[in-house]
Amino acid sequence: MNIAATPLTQKMTWITDYMEADEILRTPSFLQASKMESKELIGDTIITLDGDAHTTYRRRLARLVSRPALAHYDVQIFEPAIRETLERTAKRRGADRLVRTNLVDFVRSVFLRIGADIIGIGPLANEEDEQELLRELRLFIDGATVEWSRRDHREVLAEAQEAREAFLKRFFDAAWAERLRQVADVATGKLQEDKLRPDLLTILARNAQDNGPDREQAIRESILFIVASTLNNAGLVTNFVDELSAWNVAHKDAPLNIEDKKVFQKAMDETLRLHPPAPALIRSPLAHAKLSSGREFQPGELVALDLVKVNRDPKAFGRDAESFNPGRTLAPMVRAYGLAFGAGAHFCLGQPMVTMSKGGLDQESVGSQYKLINALYKAGIRQDPQHPPVLVNSAQDRYDDYPVIFDRL
Ligand code: HEM
Repeated sequence: MNIAATPLTQKMTWITDYMEADEILRTPSFLQASKMESKELIGDTIITLDGDAHTTYRRRLARLVSRPALAHYDVQIFEPAIRETLERTAKRRGADRLVRTNLVDFVRSVFLRIGADIIGIGPLANEEDEQELLRELRLFIDGATVEWSRRDHREVLAEAQEAREAFLKRFFDAAWAERLRQVADVATGKLQEDKLRPDLLTILARNAQDNGPDREQAIRESILFIVASTLNNAGLVTNFVDELSAWNVAHKDAPLNIEDKKVFQKAMDETLRLHPPAPALIRSPLAHAKLSSGREFQPGELVALDLVKVNRDPKAFGRDAESFNPGRTLAPMVRAYGLAFGAGAHFCLGQPMVTMSKGGLDQESVGSQYKLINALYKAGIRQDPQHPPVLVNSAQDRYDDYPVIFDRL
């Protein structure tokens, strides 16, 4: 099976029907075939494993998004991160007295702190560390999504490798050595088990103790998690601001009250549906496969689930599926955010952190995006009319630069 080339140039069967795409994602014999070009950076991680190896590993990592873990990120990391990033932004007032920033970097800075905590390389010591990690993150993001890039792919991957070296020296190596030491101390009774931090590196260091140290796997998994915790959250916020301002201009008499959690959730679901994180998820059947629709696939065939079209399938979302409509009615068995978080075995591990949908509105956690976006609107966020947003040089639907002004900071 040749899956080394990019989905933009390779022969693939493209699926645009919601139900077919959902069924493929939920069928275990369709193996993961995304992220093949970025193997060197994030290969052999949770997102690329399949079958029993994936299930066991995912169970092990699930504690990173357990209820206590989510409550910890929310109160200890996320709330101070929003406050401090706003305060820091307020200090950079321009000559015209306006507070401007790139919203993409702003959101990444906030979620970067959660990412660092999840992995176990946090808290970041100072602003300089944060800026350096942000720089490395940009290169990791481009590397991890290289299959959609319109730049020279070798160059993108070489930049990501350079960032990896810098990341190891400045953030990873010391944290990994400390985890291995702590886990060894627990084994000899020198350290109590409950003193171990419940982060990714601890989980992997414990695994390493059983199966021999696998530093390389810990590095790749750390890079995957730092990308996963920041990339799509930044995309989501910028697209949300876009959609909300367009809606409020078109509905001047009835703007959306996003402080209302139910209204917020619907607006969030619509944003996710219309702006999925990647053009497609790729899968490949292990053996001959037949869907309920009758469509058949040959073993090894490459199948691209077109997230943009699937999430706008009128059979699932109605005749106005192309438009942002927080009042929409869904067909049975259809998720309000479509397949924006995937489905089946690889369903997004971080989803409970992002939105309220899974836990329901009565749960304590309202999802990080509710807090962040409402804080941004309280600070008077608006698009900067003099500097239009710039899309990334890729087939992805995301911005590189999204200039905003805060009127009430
Ligand atoms: C708006 C935010 C997010 C979106 C839209 C999103 C979307 C997705 C999608 C579509 C997948 C499935 C990929 C596939 O099937 O090939 C996925 C997987 C994953 N996501 Fe997210 N994600 C988001 C936030 C997060 C966060 C905050 C985390 C941090 C913990 C995270 C961690 C992961 C991981 C670890 C996987 C791999 C799971 C597995 O393969 O078992 N994501 N995400």
